[in-house]
Amino acid sequence: MSNQSKKYMFAPFFYKERTWPNKVMKQAPKWCSVDLRDGNQALVNPMTMQKKLKLFKCLIDVGFKEIEVGFPAAASVEYEFVRTLIDDKLIPDDVTIQVLTQAREELIAKTMRSIIGAPRAIVHLYNSTSIAQREQVFNTDKEGVKNIALDGVHWIKQHLTKEHKNIIFEYSPESFTGTEIEFSIEICEAVLAEWRKDNANKEKVIFNLPATVELFGPQQYADLIECFAKKFSKPDEIIISVHTHNDRGTGVAASELAMLAGAKRVEGTLFGNGERTGNVDIVSLALNLFMHGIDPKLNFGDIKSTAAIVEECTELPIHCRHPYIGELVFTAFSGSHQDAIKKGFAYRQRQGKQLWDLPYLAIDPSDIGRTYKAIIRINSQSGKGGLAYVMEKEFGYLLPKRLQQEFSKVVQRYSETTMKEVSSRSVRDIFEKTYIQQEKALIQYIKMKPKYLDEHHVEMALSLKYKEQVDAEPKEILLEGEGNGPVDAAQKALQKLCDSFEVLDYYEHTLSQGSDAKAIAYIEVKRAEQRHFGVGIDENITVASVKALISAVNFLLTS
Ligand code: KIV
Ligand code: ZN
Repeated sequence: MSNQSKKYMFAPFFYKERTWPNKVMKQAPKWCSVDLRDGNQALVNPMTMQKKLKLFKCLIDVGFKEIEVGFPAAASVEYEFVRTLIDDKLIPDDVTIQVLTQAREELIAKTMRSIIGAPRAIVHLYNSTSIAQREQVFNTDKEGVKNIALDGVHWIKQHLTKEHKNIIFEYSPESFTGTEIEFSIEICEAVLAEWRKDNANKEKVIFNLPATVELFGPQQYADLIECFAKKFSKPDEIIISVHTHNDRGTGVAASELAMLAGAKRVEGTLFGNGERTGNVDIVSLALNLFMHGIDPKLNFGDIKSTAAIVEECTELPIHCRHPYIGELVFTAFSGSHQDAIKKGFAYRQRQGKQLWDLPYLAIDPSDIGRTYKAIIRINSQSGKGGLAYVMEKEFGYLLPKRLQQEFSKVVQRYSETTMKEVSSRSVRDIFEKTYIQQEKALIQYIKMKPKYLDEHHVEMALSLKYKEQVDAEPKEILLEGEGNGPVDAAQKALQKLCDSFEVLDYYEHTLSQGSDAKAIAYIEVKRAEQRHFGVGIDENITVASVKALISAVNFLLTS
C-alpha cells in the first residue's frame, strides 16, 4: 500500500495555544440525540411512524432533554411524525425537539410549519462549508457558501410566526473538519450577526461543529474546537456543540477531547448508529463519564431493554464486543482473568468495598442492569478459577482446590475435542458423569447399615450392585467392613473389591437450604500412582460420603 498511501495528505491543523490536554472532565455535557434524524437517514429501512414513536419514548425514558426528531421537509413521514408529537402532546415539558433543514426557502417554510405549536423547538440549519464541497459540489467560493448560510438564517426569521413559541437557533457548518478554521469562525460570526439583526430572540445560539467525516485524529478535532472557542468574538452568546462521526473509529475519543476543549453540548446516537461507521455513541460517552464518578445525566440502568428497542427500530444488530452492551463484554474466557475476577468479587465482599476496582471489569455490570452470571464462560482457555466460579455460582458446589485442578483438566480435554465453548449446563453434566454417576461404573450404591460398636468403632454392611466388567450383568452383593467411623468402615468394606486404596482428603457441605437440603461430600482417594476424586450427594451426610467413596473407587477400578 505504500504507493497508494501517497494520495492521502497529512492533516496539518495544529493549535499551539491548546490547553485542553491539561483539563479534566467534571460534568456531563448537554446531550442531544440524533437517532431519529442522522441515525434514521442511515438505515436500510428508515423507521415507520410506529417505530419512530417507540424510539422517541425510549429516548425520553433514557433521559434526553434535546432530541432531533427529523428532517420534516425531506419526507412526509418526517413531517407527520413531528406534527404527531406536537398535536398529540407527546413531548414532555422538559424536553425540546429539534428539526433539521437545509438552507432552501421552500424547505425552511415547511420545516417552520412543522413545529408550529411546539412548546419549545430548536431549528437546526446547515450547509456545507469545506474546501472539497465548495470546489467539487457547489462550485462556489467562500462568499458563495457564506451567502447560502445567511439566506437560510434570513428565511428562518421570515417564516417565524406568532404561533412559534420558544425557538432556539442552531447552525452547523457541515463538513467543519474539512473547512479552514478561520473561515468556520468567519461564517459563524456572520450567521450570529444575521440571526441577532432585528430579532428579539436573545437565546444563546448553538454552533454545532461536526466531524461530518472523521478526517483526522481526536486531538486535532479538539484543537479545532478550542481554537474556535477562543477566537469566537462573542463566546457568551453561543453554545459550542460537537457532532462526531466514526470513520477512523475514534468518534468517542474526538467528542471526549472536544469536551475538554470547550464543547458544552454533544450530538450523537444510542450505540452509534448513523451514516457509514456511525455517529458517536452516546451510551459509551455517558458511561465513560459514569465510570469516572461523574453523573452522566442519562439512565442506562436497564441497558438491555434500551438496546432491544434500538435494535428493533433500526433493524441493526449491536456487535457482541460493543462497549458496555455487547453480549461478551462482561465475559471472561481466559483462565487467569476468570481466576482474578472470582478473587476480586470475593475480596470485594469481604472488605465491603465501595470503590469499584475489580480486575478485568471496568464497571460493575449490575449498575447497567447486567448480571454477573454470564461473566465467566468456559472454553479450552479457561482455568480452574472460572470453573470453580461457575460450579459455585450456578450449582452451589464448592469444589476443593485439588478437585478444581483435576476437573479443569477434564473440561479442557472435552473442549479441545469439541473446539467450542462449554455451556455451564455441560460443565455440570461433565462433572456428574466424571464424579457422581460414571457411565462405566462397576459399583452402584443400594443401601448401607452402620452399626456402632462403641462411640467411634463402626461395623458397616454395604449393599451394592456390582459387575465384574463394564458390559457384565450386575448382581447384588453385600460387603462388610469395620473401622473408625462409617467412612473408614465403608473403605475397609470396599477394599474387598479394590485393594489397598487410601483416602487422602475429605470435604463436605450442604447444597441447598430448607427441608430439601442435601449434603455433598468430596473424597480424594489414592492407589499406587492414581489419585482421583469421587463425589456423593444425599439427604444424609454419611450416605453422601459413602457414595463419594464408591464413586472414587469406580474410577480406580475402571481406569
Ligand atoms: O454529520 C453532519 O455534519 C450532520 C449535520 C447535518 C450536522 O449530520
Ligand atoms: Zn451527522
